[in-house]
Amino acid sequence: MNIVKLFDGVYSIDGKLATENSVKGNRVYNEDLIEDGDVEYRLWNPYRSKLAAAILKGLKNFHIKRDSRVLYLGAATGTTSSHVSDIAKDGQIFCVEISERNMRGLLGTCEKRENMFPILSDANNINEYKSIVNECDIIYQDVSVKEQAKMLNINSVMLKKGGYAYFIIKSQSIDISKNPKEIFEDELREVSKNFEIIEKIDIEPFDSLHLFVVLQKK
Ligand SMILES: C[S@@+](CC[C@H](N)C(=O)[O-])C[C@H]1O[C@@H](n2cnc3c(N)ncnc32)[C@H](O)[C@@H]1O
Repeated sequence: MNIVKLFDGVYSIDGKLATENSVKGNRVYNEDLIEDGDVEYRLWNPYRSKLAAAILKGLKNFHIKRDSRVLYLGAATGTTSSHVSDIAKDGQIFCVEISERNMRGLLGTCEKRENMFPILSDANNINEYKSIVNECDIIYQDVSVKEQAKMLNINSVMLKKGGYAYFIIKSQSIDISKNPKEIFEDELREVSKNFEIIEKIDIEPFDSLHLFVVLQKK
């Protein structure tokens, strides 16, 4: 077995992406588990997680550390956020999700992982969770709504200066009739008052009509 460390907490095992499972024996989305001595890895599916897709597509700016405080917007049932929880094992992941149905799945994931905190809220209503999160090191936003840049700008008040945002823009949720490139430019213009654009990644073939962007708070 050939295990290569790509970033702190992120590995390639025989060419497949993985994180070290912080809850041994536990699967979140029926992913494969791989034992190597005392360590158990969870394979990380790039077709299920845009962060995994971005890493496989050559992401250079990976700033989630072992002790990061992460504000995760649009956690769904916890697929990607559980891998973030493996990486930031001494940190905290605040998982905001609006759907009660997804929240039921997310609660199951968070119950097993001490560093994941579920928050049932609209991510536009930051007053519902601002006092819980306080200041964070990272914002990860993967929310299919019409006003995606506006949501990130609202939440950016909780991001420390110099902190990073991973912003996934889904053009189809904004305007299906418009050229995705124009939509991406408009969204990035809207966040540019708060953020520097650090890196942009096209995550095809894992997901289409999305742009994965790394931003740094000014
Ligand atoms: C593409 S899915 C997220 C997938 C997840 N990030 C992952 O990789 O595991 C988008 C999620 O955003 C949630 N969502 C939509 N509008 C929202 C809002 N206003 N506030 C918070 N979450 C929202 C949806 O319910 C859905 O679960």
